[in-house]
Amino acid sequence: MTKNSMRIAVFAGDGIGPEVTEQAVRVLEKLDLSGLELVEGDVGGMAYRKHGHPLPAETLEIARSADAILFGAVGDFSCDHLERHLRPEQAILGLRKELGLFANLRPARVFPGLEDLTTLRPEVASKIDLLIVRELNGDVYFGEKGMRVLEDGRRQGWDMMSYAEDEVRRIANTAFTAAMGRDRKLCSVDKANVLETSQLWRDVVIEVSKEYPEVELSHMYVDNAAMQLVKNPGAFDVIVTGNLFGDILSDQASMCVGSIGLLASASLAEGTFGLYEPIHGSAPDIAGKGLANPMATILSAAMMLRHSLGLEEQAVRIEKAVAAALAAGVKGGDLGGSSGTREIGDAVVERL
Ligand code: IPM
Ligand code: MG
Repeated sequence: MTKNSMRIAVFAGDGIGPEVTEQAVRVLEKLDLSGLELVEGDVGGMAYRKHGHPLPAETLEIARSADAILFGAVGDFSCDHLERHLRPEQAILGLRKELGLFANLRPARVFPGLEDLTTLRPEVASKIDLLIVRELNGDVYFGEKGMRVLEDGRRQGWDMMSYAEDEVRRIANTAFTAAMGRDRKLCSVDKANVLETSQLWRDVVIEVSKEYPEVELSHMYVDNAAMQLVKNPGAFDVIVTGNLFGDILSDQASMCVGSIGLLASASLAEGTFGLYEPIHGSAPDIAGKGLANPMATILSAAMMLRHSLGLEEQAVRIEKAVAAALAAGVKGGDLGGSSGTREIGDAVVERL
């Protein structure tokens, strides 16, 4: 699929979000794609300050009118005192839910030459080339929740964990399809030894596996998966898991490859619509200083071209330019280098 017009919503958000998305936009503009239209919108703490809500109605409207969203980051300590529904994080959670972005793809691999940056031994880390497929619309994230006072006066917080079979089937299909395009190994991560939610998850994944006889399916409890991710991460190809476990394991996987500033992600709806964001957060400590590494956002833009706009060739061009910049020693502070945000953007743009 290639379209004549492509409308991209750019939601830069908080902290380092604006700096890193600025560089990704430069990269997109350099590609000179015909019909590319960029529309900005407010999300997160900055949107709360401007409009009184982290996901204003006008932002949601821009999102709905777009072919894809390029997202920076949300998160702002100064909003910590707000009621939960007004906190910056609700922008990303709201977009996921409102737009049906149910499949989160988080690839992790070690870039050649960066093997020494991980906290794992280089010979272990260099074997990592995995994809986490995280369900994004269900689980304890979106279940009923509340605070109550028990009869004996103790306060209790509670969150309901659940998955319905169609939700599991849908993400399982995404994961099996992804595995078919890779090494055809899928590991489903759950906690079926304790949780009913996980038992259903496992049963449904096994049902779906019948449609993908070429994919080798395995199951792993999440605690063991956390251990295997540092013990023998090279054994994983595709991991599929629920929202909460996927949140945790994907951060862990990012550290196993040592460079959170390089990891991109896609959150996909049914069809081609998707939201693309770096997996790092808003990093308030370095915000506005021109120090953030924009490569993860630039690589997210590449994923966007691939998954939502059918522009595989241009996606590869961006990925190669990033790899070439890294190989030439252009590294941000997160990689032990000294290149600034703009400088890294320049280096990638030059190599396109
Ligand atoms: C992520 C983040 C979000 C999540 C937060 C910001 C709500 O940690 O995208 O992994 O928990 O999903
Ligand atoms: Mg997370």
